[in-house]
Amino acid sequence: MPKPASKATQSPIRRVGVSTGGGDAPGLNAVIRAVVLAAHRQGWEVVGIRDGYNGIFLPDQYPDGGLIPLTPARVSRITHLGGTIIGTTNAGNPMKFPTKQPDGTMAEADRTDDLVAGFEQNGIDAVVAIGGDGSLTIANALADKGVRIVGVPKTIDNDLNKTVATFGFDSAVSFATECIDRLHSTAESHRRIMVVEVMGRYAGWIALNSGVSGTADAILIPEIPYDIEKVADAVRRRGAEGQVFAIVVVAEGAKPKGGTHSVVEKKLGAAERLGGAGERVANDLRTLTGKDTRHVVLGHLLRGGSPTTFDRLISLRFGAAAVRALVEGHSGVMVALDPPTVRYVPLAQATKRMKTVPLDCDTLQTARELGICLGD
Ligand code: F6P
Repeated sequence: MPKPASKATQSPIRRVGVSTGGGDAPGLNAVIRAVVLAAHRQGWEVVGIRDGYNGIFLPDQYPDGGLIPLTPARVSRITHLGGTIIGTTNAGNPMKFPTKQPDGTMAEADRTDDLVAGFEQNGIDAVVAIGGDGSLTIANALADKGVRIVGVPKTIDNDLNKTVATFGFDSAVSFATECIDRLHSTAESHRRIMVVEVMGRYAGWIALNSGVSGTADAILIPEIPYDIEKVADAVRRRGAEGQVFAIVVVAEGAKPKGGTHSVVEKKLGAAERLGGAGERVANDLRTLTGKDTRHVVLGHLLRGGSPTTFDRLISLRFGAAAVRALVEGHSGVMVALDPPTVRYVPLAQATKRMKTVPLDCDTLQTARELGICLGD
């Protein structure tokens, strides 16, 4: 059952704060627009909190203040735009906020109480938190402190449990598929192995869906640690069958059997940054097969551009549903796609575990039946 609104949250809503946290994803602006228009119909004012919650923590950093008044006019014609008009950050987690210590060093500190006080000082009596796993975990902690808050599931990684889909994922997969399509002709012309690294953190959804749709020959995902010899064998088999090139899609979180995923850096207050998985696979395949090999990292390209129709629609539905949830007195919930409807699930449940690719899912089975190597 959704967390009931606490006594403190029974007061009327006058001002809603909207926050976008973590990596941006196509569809954020569509959610913002839906929240603003639906809230406006309730007679509620909406403000956008800049860069996650930095607009509350560090208002002096912004010449125009940390809050952006979001009127219906301000959100006109933004549904199709990538990015977020209020900014975002994946380095401002209030539960692990980089804070200067008395000895001058920096350390992570829990600043959620300061944030709750900041909402009060700014007259924000309800919050719509748009984000992925990290942002929704923060939203859950804020709900536990009595903040009236509703979460909206965003991430290109599609790794959030309790919703059939997150917005941003479809746009990312569509673009990755288009890129893989484009790589076929250059791979064939040069008789090369092309290794394509895609984002997704610890889940292989983007790699699997774009790899199958884009006719990859091998797809390596974090859920199935790979044996590089098996991948090399698949490339060699293709060669023996007269295919002069190969396309290998690698999730950034892919790891070899007995090994770990590849990390670029880990900063205070931020999640570890993955990278290098594609290059590692490309180097190994070059050595093992002797074939000319190149790797391409699609990276942040997957987060840019306009949302697909599917993402626009669910973003608008999520935004409207978030306001509906507040109207109905819910708090501590996430709106979730459960076709044909959008329902509310407790944030605590939604953030309990990550949604990775189930090993018995039929997309994996389909990949195997189509002869795609999964590295095992
Ligand atoms: O979670 C979304 C995501 O794009 C991941 O796929 C990726 O690992 C991460 O964000 C990259 O974040 P940054 O913007 O810090 O490079």
